[in-house]
Amino acid sequence: MANKVIKVLGLSGEYRPTSKCGMLVNLALDIAKENGAEIHFWDLDVKPLPIVGEEGCWDNANVKEFQELATEMDAFLVASPEYHGTMSGAMKNTFDWLYAKHVSGKVFGLMSTLGGVTNSNTLNHMRIMLRWIHGWPVPEQLAIGNVKEAFDEEGQLLDPKIVERLHSVVLSTLENSKKLS
Ligand SMILES: Cc1cc2nc3c(=O)[nH]c(=O)nc-3n(C[C@H](O)[C@H](O)[C@H](O)COP(=O)(O)O)c2cc1C
Repeated sequence: MANKVIKVLGLSGEYRPTSKCGMLVNLALDIAKENGAEIHFWDLDVKPLPIVGEEGCWDNANVKEFQELATEMDAFLVASPEYHGTMSGAMKNTFDWLYAKHVSGKVFGLMSTLGGVTNSNTLNHMRIMLRWIHGWPVPEQLAIGNVKEAFDEEGQLLDPKIVERLHSVVLSTLENSKKLS
């Protein structure tokens, strides 16, 4: 299993790859790719997931595709904005479409962005939630406070310490996914 190519799906709690979480997840996926992973990104803007319970949601084609893709994956890199002290509604709704049958025993690397001061609320809430779908979050994690100042115009992270932490989240996700495969 040591040489197995790990398949990683990036999930963002904001729409579009140009949002802060979209950029963060894609930077994480780039690092995963550099380290031999096969990467995928679910763009809610292109393929929205209906709110769980809304009319017609159970037969939605995007949901079916999303669940099938998740089932094929070994690991997940996830970034949510902090909204009112927790993950965004879009992030929670994305997780609400995943059940243990899709993600049980799979590894998650968790990240969050905040407009204000850095804290771990969203990360902790995602960890607790993952218990219900039997996901395995790695201990390494990244929260970026004052996110409006975190990226340069090319979408790169400005603070080398944050870049280092991002690497540690991604590498731990890949390494632990290999161990569990
Ligand atoms: C509804 C809403 C609630 C928010 N709540 C918080 C919050 O509780 N703490 C915080 O630091 N930032 C909060 N923010 C700011 C977001 O965390 C920030 O917008 C997000 O991390 C992504 O940045 P972006 O909007 O520039 O893409 C909130 C933003 C919105 C839209």
